[in-house]
Amino acid sequence: MQGTAIAQPNIALIKYWGKRDIERNLPAVGSISITLHELNTRMHVKFDDALAADVLSVNDVPDTKMLPRLTTCLDRVAGPDRPRARIASTCNFPIAAGLASSASSFAALTVAAAEAAGKALKVDELASLAGRASGSAARSLLGGFVELVNVGDDIACHTLCDADAWPLSVVVAITASGPKAVGSTEAMEISRKTSPFYASWIEQQEQDLDTARAAIATRDFATLAVIAEYNCLKMHSIMWASRPPMVYWNAATMRCLQTVRKLQGQGVGVFFTIDAGPQVKAVCLPEHATTVEAALRATDGVVDIMMTGLGEGARLEHCE
Ligand code: PMV
Repeated sequence: MQGTAIAQPNIALIKYWGKRDIERNLPAVGSISITLHELNTRMHVKFDDALAADVLSVNDVPDTKMLPRLTTCLDRVAGPDRPRARIASTCNFPIAAGLASSASSFAALTVAAAEAAGKALKVDELASLAGRASGSAARSLLGGFVELVNVGDDIACHTLCDADAWPLSVVVAITASGPKAVGSTEAMEISRKTSPFYASWIEQQEQDLDTARAAIATRDFATLAVIAEYNCLKMHSIMWASRPPMVYWNAATMRCLQTVRKLQGQGVGVFFTIDAGPQVKAVCLPEHATTVEAALRATDGVVDIMMTGLGEGARLEHCE
């Protein structure tokens, strides 16, 4: 009747932007991500027949805002007739700050809920359930470099390369805190309906995925850097050319990009990627991580820095 799972957030190198089915939350395109190591979310789910409604605490504080999304996810995993649950979430990094906390949360919740419901689910079944709750969550079920693919009217995930087979580092430059102005689901729909670049984005994604997949297979950092930055800037161009335009960057975001460009000019193995928020994620070779960290820390407007390696996928925690 209970289960605890831990999952880490992931960052897409080849992004998912746009949905082909809003109802089922299916992505319009495939994506490739890296699962992080140091940042994590732990979810404990305990079904309790005595409860009249689900109860959620986030970092030991009662929370009702996130609860409906979690309740829906539990209903999908355990069935709507399930007992109500006590859900306790603990997160060791800022929530809703553009650091993919929903990915780690829903990956951990899906795994913990399946355990609590006594269901032994395969990765693809977990991916399908986690993906319904958050488009990027399915990728956090697996570690290292992960590809999410559209299969029929569902999704599936597989590992392209384990974390320790190509141990890159990630330096996250936090340039602002606080929730985003437009949530990603709404922003994706605005993009799909109004951006003149949306159709070509969809058209070109397979090519970008092919290039990234080949670069990962051969551990070709330079090629991965070029395709990841290109794919990221294309995604933001769609948003900028939407009506209304959606610009998630601030002045410090741009300054971080300039810092990364300068480092690249000095031969440092680093590239940037940015999601639907103002934070900059600098992916780098481990031997260059301290140089990248120092340069981003010294960049005007950077309020905090987080450093992490690549990590494993969502897993059960058995020591309860
Ligand atoms: O997981 P969602 O539905 O909030 O969408 C995430 C979208 C991006 O982070 C911008 C890109 C991605 O593939 O993670």
